[in-house]
Formats: sequence, structure tokens, C-alpha cells
Amino acid sequence: MVCALVAAPGATRLSGVDFECYIAAMKDLMGRHVVLGLSGGIACYKAAELCRALIKAGATVQVVMTEAAEHFITATTLQALSGRSVYTSQWDTREANSMAHINLSREADLVLIAPASADFMAKLLHGRADELLSLLCLARPRETVPLMIAPAMNREMWHHPATQRNVAQLQADGTLVLGVGEGDQACGEVGDGRMLEPHELLAEVVAHFQPKHLAGRRVLVTAGPTFEPLDPVRGLTNRSSGKMGFAIAQAAQEAGAAVTLVAGPVALATPRGVRRVDVTTAVDMDQAVSALQDEADVFVATAAVADWRAAQVSEEKIKKSPAATAPSLSFVENPDILARVAASDRARSGALFCVGFAAESHDLLAHAQAKRLRKGVPLLVGNLGPATFGQDDNRLLLIDDHSVTELPLASKLALARQLVARIAQSLT
Ligand code: C5P
Repeated sequence: MVCALVAAPGATRLSGVDFECYIAAMKDLMGRHVVLGLSGGIACYKAAELCRALIKAGATVQVVMTEAAEHFITATTLQALSGRSVYTSQWDTREANSMAHINLSREADLVLIAPASADFMAKLLHGRADELLSLLCLARPRETVPLMIAPAMNREMWHHPATQRNVAQLQADGTLVLGVGEGDQACGEVGDGRMLEPHELLAEVVAHFQPKHLAGRRVLVTAGPTFEPLDPVRGLTNRSSGKMGFAIAQAAQEAGAAVTLVAGPVALATPRGVRRVDVTTAVDMDQAVSALQDEADVFVATAAVADWRAAQVSEEKIKKSPAATAPSLSFVENPDILARVAASDRARSGALFCVGFAAESHDLLAHAQAKRLRKGVPLLVGNLGPATFGQDDNRLLLIDDHSVTELPLASKLALARQLVARIAQSLT
């Protein structure tokens, strides 16, 4: 399979397959052991794909199924996908000590129930343990083996006060209850209650294992190019793909921050859990940032903002003149968003930590050091623009007032996670 991080021109979102492929390339779950529990529901068919995705991301997966789950998908399918025989009974004779619930739960880094039916959630809530899956959930060491559940049910069942009460109580008991999707349901009705898609569940699991450096922090990120119109069909833009900024938004979200991403025109999927504001021009981006900057603790300006815009945007398409003379265009300077935010009272007092980017073509260190001072930011990230635009990999120079740190070639997400850790250190 060819992994493409950017959707085809005109598309607005990555497919789940691309996303899974991207996550798999990262091997983010290497060394993690997941007990994947299936309770009864039509969403069991998605658990097969989830199992495969977890393994592609590097995890080992032990599947445990309830009797009801076996009505929807066979243990054989999940055995083939996980490479391990599936457990379905607490009386399983394969365990020498006859304690599958103890053994399976002690080996796990995470117990993930997907799908979690309404009935299974009610069982968990009451601490019932009359079959292997609920038994191992109850028996697991709660401090070291988290329980994450992906509810899946009909919309009426999901919105029933009993289910919502159970969700609230399970959360209060420390269970990580994931959200539900909305859309067509197997029963023919339409609404909330679908199990999240496998790539969404995978993103939740990957995020779960990331260190929570930015818990409780609010992060504002700009990303992508801007597009400055000349007439209704033409404009000025640049080759920024937005990948670095989107990776930073994802890394900050995984690290526990509440993240808002102000994105120029790019065809990238919004990282899970990130709030996105789409803009087109530099002026739009500046206005969006102005409206959001007071709610942020960290501002990361990765956007490649156009320096200039047309002084006058023609309302009609600029036609080729019969004499074939080129139209004369005049430009005005765009606002420097980063410099403006860095000069704000909150940034100057240290309440808002600003990070700038410099995409240079040569003399990276000297240009980036000069840019840090010119923009008035505590941290400037330098990279070689032509080498990184559109790529999935990058290398970065982190420059502050007393040091230069090189982050060698790695995926943009891996670099973004290192940058987020560095930013978090600066906040403490
Ligand atoms: O001046 P230059 O464009 O090289 O500066 C790059 C840094 O400044 C990046 O962090 C970019 O997001 C930010 N920037 C901005 N507004 C502009 C130009 C650049 O926020 N108009």
C-alpha cells in the first residue's frame, strides 16, 4: 500500500487507511500489549480492522470475546489477525493456574473494550464478573492497567438516561470512556451511538500512551500557507503543506493540551481532538489569531504567511490584454502575526509563550538567530524550507537565548513531540 499523508487535490480529508498507514509507519505502539475485548454488537466487524491497525502500529494484541460477541464475528478471524488464540471463557484450560482473568490482565498495558455494548457497560458499572471479559476488567490492577471503552449502540440506547448515568459513573470510577460517532446505524436509524472508526480508536490509543507534558495548557497553532487573491480565479500562495503545523497540533493534543489550529488552505485531516479554524488570507489568519490568543498559554506560528497581498483585488478575472502586456500589480504588506502576538502584554509578561518558525534556504543558523530577535520570541525553530515543504520528514534547529539544539532527521510527528516536550520544559 502506498502511504500518502496529503489527500488528493480537491479532497478535504485523509482516508482512514492513510491515517492508519501513517500511524503504522511510526510504530507508536511498539512494546505495548493491549487486551482487546469485544462485547456483543454489530460494531464487532470494526474490531477486526482495529486489531490489525493496533498490530501494524507495533502493539501485541490479545483478544478476549464475550459469548455475545461471538454471534457477530468469529474468534478465528481475530486469531488470524492477532496471531494469538482468542480467549472466550473463564474456564479456559490453557492456563495452568486456571486463572485467565488474572494472567491476561497482569500482562496488559491497556484493556480496550471495542465495542462496549450498553449491557457490558452496565456490567462494568456494577462490578459484575460472570464471564471472562468483565471478570478481567474487575481483576485488573487499576493503577497500572487502564481500562478504555468504545461504546457502540443504537441512538435511543445511547441517549437513555440509564446509559448516560453509567457513562458518568464509569468515568468517575476511572474508566476512559471514548465518545461515539454519529451517522447511519445498522438498525436503519440515524444518530449518535456508532462506535468510533478503527483509525479514530487507534489515534486514541496512541495518544493515551504519550506523556502528558501539556496537561491543562491551551495551545494555539497556525499552519499551512495563506492564499492572497488577485482576482476571482487567481492568487498568490506558497508550497507549505501544513504538515509540520498539523503534527505540532496533534503532538500538543496528545500531550494533554486543549489545541486550536488556525489552518490556511490545505487538504489535511484535522488531528483527533483538535479544534480547527480554517482561513484563507493572512488578514483572515491574523483576525482568527487575535480572537483566540487571549485564551492560549502557548502560541506556535508554523504558518507560511504571505508577506504581501494585492493592493486591489480585481472583482473580475484579469484578462490578457490584446497587446499582450503584463498587468501591473501593486502590493501592500500583510500583518506580521507572530511579531504582533509576541509584542502583546501577555507574551511579554510570560503568560503566553511564543514559538516562531524560520524556513530558510541557506545559512539557517545565522538567519534563524536573527529572526528570533527580530520577532521577539523566546524560541525559534529553524528548518530548511525547500528541503521540507511537502515532505513527511524534517530536521529542526531549536534556538533560544542561550542554546541551539539540533533535532536530527525524523518524521514531522516525532519532531513535533520533541518540540512539545521542549516547550513544556519552558513553561515550568
Ligand atoms: O518573517 P518570516 O516569514 O520569515 O517569519 C517566519 C515566522 O513568522 C513563522 O513563525 C511565521 O508563522 C511567522 N509569520 C507570521 N506572520 C507573517 C509572517 C510570518 O506570523 N506575516
